[in-house]
Amino acid sequence: MKFLICGGAGYVGSHMVRYLVENQHDVVVYDDLSTGHREAVADDVAFVHGDIGDAVTLWRLFATHKFDAVMHFCARSLVGESVVDPYQYYRNNVANTLMLLAAMREAGIQRLVFSSTAAVFGNPRSDTIDETHPTDPINPYGQSKLMIERVLADAYRAYGLRSVALRYFNAAGADPSGIIGESHHPETHLIPNLLRAVLGNGPGLKVFGDDYDTRDGTCVRDYVHVNDLASAHLLAVEFLEENEGAFTFNLGNGEGFSVREVIAAAQRVTGREVPHAIAPRRPGDPPTLVASSLQARRMLGWQPRIGVLDDILDSAWRWHLQPRY
Ligand code: UFG
Repeated sequence: MKFLICGGAGYVGSHMVRYLVENQHDVVVYDDLSTGHREAVADDVAFVHGDIGDAVTLWRLFATHKFDAVMHFCARSLVGESVVDPYQYYRNNVANTLMLLAAMREAGIQRLVFSSTAAVFGNPRSDTIDETHPTDPINPYGQSKLMIERVLADAYRAYGLRSVALRYFNAAGADPSGIIGESHHPETHLIPNLLRAVLGNGPGLKVFGDDYDTRDGTCVRDYVHVNDLASAHLLAVEFLEENEGAFTFNLGNGEGFSVREVIAAAQRVTGREVPHAIAPRRPGDPPTLVASSLQARRMLGWQPRIGVLDDILDSAWRWHLQPRY
């Protein structure tokens, strides 16, 4: 199949591209490189520099290539930044996505896989979150993703667009090749910050809060390997060949680890101490976020391969020892 990967130079998008190429699919990457890295896309993969809000470039792209499906990874994704500058989030994540959807409609492309997030749930009302859990985002980032989920439901009813929104819990790890990995500027995520602290790059790790109502007082998250997210996207496109509608699936391993447990695992994997200190809570962090992914397993046939936290950390560690960007 031939895919347009919007945001294919970003963390999850670049792993998706690699996964598709390894599975003999044809790929064009479309990325404005505002947060992604050109080095994350292999030289022999077609790359178009552009923004999904740019109707002219999109039109040209769709006139040149005949895509079977689009995968959409372009988004601003920092919760704190979204609170400070919501217009940026609504413009990039909502308005620009509408431009992409309109261009797809004109080009007659009927399948889309959209990157959504656990942030659509806000403060969860149960420890394990399945797709029936109410959505109630508590920040503009989560709102922007939920808005597009709703647009996709309407787009199916009105135009027959088939879509799957995949709500990632905590994307983590790196491709075992060590060629691509997680690199954000600024970096806010636990695992990269923790591994940089191990390597002595930057300040020691700050643990945001140890007084939550969890087993050891630190926040609990469900870490899912980035290549397992990639496999879910391809299964989602295959699912849309047989099924019509706008679907949503939660993606996680179904097991939560506290920040302290992640630190302990990182010490096992690296064989080194993780310098860290307790800091105040970070605003907007729910105490526990753990997915039920039974739907994705049942309906998509999804089976995470790197489900053990130490293995996820090990893949991230290999990247952090020799980051290329
Ligand atoms: N944490 C630290 N120190 C750090 C970074 C993180 O203690 O330097 C803690 C956080 O407070 C949180 C946990 O580690 O308890 C995980 O934090 P991340 O920033 O790695 O990930 P989040 O759970 O905040 O983010 C994820 C997704 C977002 C989504 C959010 C919903 O990456 O896309 O869940 O709450 F919006």
